[in-house]
Amino acid sequence: MLGPLILAASRSDKMRRFVSAAPGTKQVVARFIAGETVDQVVPIIRDLADKGLELTLDVVGEDITTVEQSYAARDAYLELIARLKELELGERAEMSVKLSMFGQSLEGGHELALANVRPVVEAAAAIGTTVTLDAEDHTTLDSMFAIHEELRKDFPQTGCVIQAYLYRTEDDARRLAAAGSRVRIVKGAYKEPAEVAIQDKAEIDKAYVRILKILMDGEGYPMIGSHDPRLISIGQELARRAGRKLDEYEFQMLYGIRGEEHLRLAAEGHRMRVYTAYGTDWYGYFMRRLAEKPANLLFFARSILTK
Ligand code: FDA
Repeated sequence: MLGPLILAASRSDKMRRFVSAAPGTKQVVARFIAGETVDQVVPIIRDLADKGLELTLDVVGEDITTVEQSYAARDAYLELIARLKELELGERAEMSVKLSMFGQSLEGGHELALANVRPVVEAAAAIGTTVTLDAEDHTTLDSMFAIHEELRKDFPQTGCVIQAYLYRTEDDARRLAAAGSRVRIVKGAYKEPAEVAIQDKAEIDKAYVRILKILMDGEGYPMIGSHDPRLISIGQELARRAGRKLDEYEFQMLYGIRGEEHLRLAAEGHRMRVYTAYGTDWYGYFMRRLAEKPANLLFFARSILTK
């Protein structure tokens, strides 16, 4: 019950102001957000890489309202790439981007987002790494997939995300499970209507397994985005049945969630990539993490009340 309410609150400016100003917020946010600036995140990137983990970096932000903000988002990624170049991690540190932050929802947004994301993908390729396009709410996906297809003409390693809760996703997975593609499968984190998305958690898990099987049996590179222990072991089994070697798929989890599991999978020889978010505009990202696990909300409420 709480999850959908928190997701509704994630779109409210009033709640954004309340949560951002609440005492104790910073301490809880720090669990999920690795820092506010690129200088703060660099030591964390080094530390995770030293532990044998890989990264996908996300400069948080979405739902922008001006073209200037979309340029600022592009520039924040270019600044990050300049720092990644010094770290020489190559594809061990890639990036995740939300096209809404690149202007997708503004007037002429499809072209604007493509124009903003292209130099980021180019700069990433120049240092031997790549970009994955995150999946946002269902109304944005046709544009996201079209931008993905366009970018792949010059940068075939550009990845994208598909969400198991959407009815459309099995078809998307079949289309995307082709040689050279990189596809992250996740359950889905947005509040979606019943016309487009499965609402029952157990049914979403079943859809996840069906879609993951399509990816594993296909010719692309599946990226298993989940913290769910059952899905992780099913993923290992599907990979084994499909005859995939350990470097022919990977696991991905979010920074701050099940850290011991990141290390366990890496120690078993798996490629384990940590989605590491940083930046100042953390509100939407943070609220989705609260919605995924209502116990986080209790922890958050307690930290406000005890300040
Ligand atoms: P589930 O929610 O069932 O969680 C399994 C277990 O993991 C829980 O029991 C708990 O122990 C732990 N856990 C999960 N979430 C937690 C949290 N917030 N706090 C504390 N513990 C938690 N979504 C999307 O719509 N578009 C996208 O582009 C992405 N990108 C993305 C990248 C990566 C690398 C990951 C891991 C996830 C995403 N997501 C996403 C989010 C995804 O859709 C989903 O909401 C979360 O991963 C939670 O689902 P799980 O599969 O982890 O299972």
